[in-house]
Amino acid sequence: MNKPNIILGIESSCDDTAAAVIQDGKLLASIVAGQEVHRQYGGVVPELASRAHQQNIIPVVHQAIAKAGIRKEDISAIAFTRGPGLMGSLLVGASFAKAFAMGLNIPLIEVNHMQAHILAHFIEDSSSFKSPSFPFLCLTVSGGHTQIVLVKDYFDMTVLGETIDDAAGEAFDKAAKILNLPYPGGPIIDKYAASGNPLKFKFTKPQIPDLNFSFSGLKTGFMNFINNESSKNPEFVTENLCDIAASIQHTIIEILMSKLKTAALQHNINQIAIAGGVSANSGLRKALLDNEELLGWIVFIPKFEYCTDNAAMIAITGYFKFLKKEFTSQVTTPMARYSL
Ligand code: KG4
Ligand code: ZN
Repeated sequence: MNKPNIILGIESSCDDTAAAVIQDGKLLASIVAGQEVHRQYGGVVPELASRAHQQNIIPVVHQAIAKAGIRKEDISAIAFTRGPGLMGSLLVGASFAKAFAMGLNIPLIEVNHMQAHILAHFIEDSSSFKSPSFPFLCLTVSGGHTQIVLVKDYFDMTVLGETIDDAAGEAFDKAAKILNLPYPGGPIIDKYAASGNPLKFKFTKPQIPDLNFSFSGLKTGFMNFINNESSKNPEFVTENLCDIAASIQHTIIEILMSKLKTAALQHNINQIAIAGGVSANSGLRKALLDNEELLGWIVFIPKFEYCTDNAAMIAITGYFKFLKKEFTSQVTTPMARYSL
């Protein structure tokens, strides 16, 4: 019998320390340790993130290996996030991966975090698993990125449009901060929005050419609106929280959906995938699924745990690179900016 291909994936680009094990394309274990320390600061503090990664990385990898039921000697290669991300955070994962691969004398594989968010659609974790076929469009929306990507093959991806300033997740997080809600704001806005009227308040949408996005003007407009209304009625936010959350969420979703529809038409593609933390948003999921009926789209939404940062997506990307023998040398260094 052939020896199985077992890939250990390591992710540490932002504020989640994660490790996962994939055997011949099938997920055996995926462990994510979040970092509560940032909550009180209203956003990720890079210095604290690196320190927490340093504390978490060994226990997280240890747990992933134990849960997968393998021995470290069984691992065929180690895949790690080379970028994009916070330099101090990336350094922890990259240095650990390099040392571990050297110790085990096995290949090292570098992974682009944004490519991995898209390839999360290929994580095989059950028999009901369903993945898109090529070509498809992927809307990648996270705390750091907003992109529409034309995916022609596992490693043949073209960015059709992206944000010129803030990311969609940042728009959610900043809106939450303006409303005095804790970080990360996306899930909280989502929760309040569920009981609010999305058409109660109107916010100006940006006029950006092509398939690009902008969210910084929306943030400023939202802040001015809240300040203005609060100066007239100090209880404005408390009295209207659900409607405010529903209205800002609706505006962000409309901005995303209108560009995605244009991209689908321009490229004559009806397989639409979504990736990144914001794809956990229930309003966005509903807007996408509505278009299955309205526009004949076939929509792919990853499981919640593969939308936000995780190492299963790094391991599956590493597995596809392993099959092509795309290995990295020990002299590799992380890259804070790293395009697709
Ligand atoms: O992909 P991710 O875990 O990390 C990055 O690479 O950025 O995405 C985190 C982002 C945060 O901005 C968070 O507020 C947002 O995803 N997010 C959501 C929801 N869950 C997470 N945004 C809107 N609705 C949600 N339910
Ligand atoms: Zn991410």
